[in-house]
Amino acid sequence: MADEVFPTTPVVRLANCVLRPYHASDLEPMCAAANDPDIVRFMRDAFPSPYDREAGLAWLRICNVEGLPPPPAGEGGSDGSEALPLKTRAPLAPSPDVNLAICLLDGTFVGGTGLRAMSADGTDRYSREIGYWIGKDFWGRGLATEVAAGLGRWALSPASGQLTKDGQPLRRIEAGVYAENLASAKVLERAGYVREGVRRQAVIKNGVMQDVIVYGLIASDIEATG
Ligand SMILES: CC(C)(COP(=O)(O)OP(=O)(O)OC[C@H]1O[C@@H](n2cnc3c(N)ncnc32)[C@H](O)[C@@H]1OP(=O)(O)O)[C@@H](O)C(=O)NCCC(=O)NCCS
Repeated sequence: MADEVFPTTPVVRLANCVLRPYHASDLEPMCAAANDPDIVRFMRDAFPSPYDREAGLAWLRICNVEGLPPPPAGEGGSDGSEALPLKTRAPLAPSPDVNLAICLLDGTFVGGTGLRAMSADGTDRYSREIGYWIGKDFWGRGLATEVAAGLGRWALSPASGQLTKDGQPLRRIEAGVYAENLASAKVLERAGYVREGVRRQAVIKNGVMQDVIVYGLIASDIEATG
């Protein structure tokens, strides 16, 4: 498949989809797919609802996408500190987070995925949390399973370049699934992640306390499953 199908160069190529950096042209299909209560209910509150054009633009700015309209007056750049007066801004450290669009092989935008640091103090710097969502029109085709397996394996491979700030390969990919999210639990189990435990009543989503099921993937899980 020629690279010109995709507006940015794929980072991870899988059998039925690619994971590539976001592009300004993702705004419309991303907002259309993400503005769905059946997606929002299983995501963290940082995932906006409604997922309107401004929300989409704000996300693409966080992802350092070029060619976007400037943010509204009074708002800053993409460092997440726009609400702070300039003098109080902390110096910016390079973010270890990875945010990627999920596209079919014909270029169609279908969803988003990413890896983010678990905490700021560095104690768990060998770990990343994986997240993903797929637009409803594309559910049930095995895409999320392919993404969870493919991105996890890629991130744990030293060749990915996803290193800790002391230059070491990552050791662990973690996911937290709300207990009601049976589809995502199935995705992770099929993708080779190990169910490790339950964080009881760990989050409140839409006013309801939820248990969070913790899944982890380490290199020996991959060696065990091939
Ligand atoms: C969870 C999600 C990513 C799955 O995407 P997907 O591409 O449809 O996933 P897959 O096709 O790889 O696998 C889903 C499996 O769950 C099954 N499933 C779907 N709903 C289910 C339910 N309510 N109970 C049990 N299984 C369910 C599907 O049938 C499929 O299994 P099958 O292939 O054996 O039929 C998608 O539904 C989504 O984006 N949900 C909202 C956001 C979200 O939950 N993100 C993850 C947060 S941890």
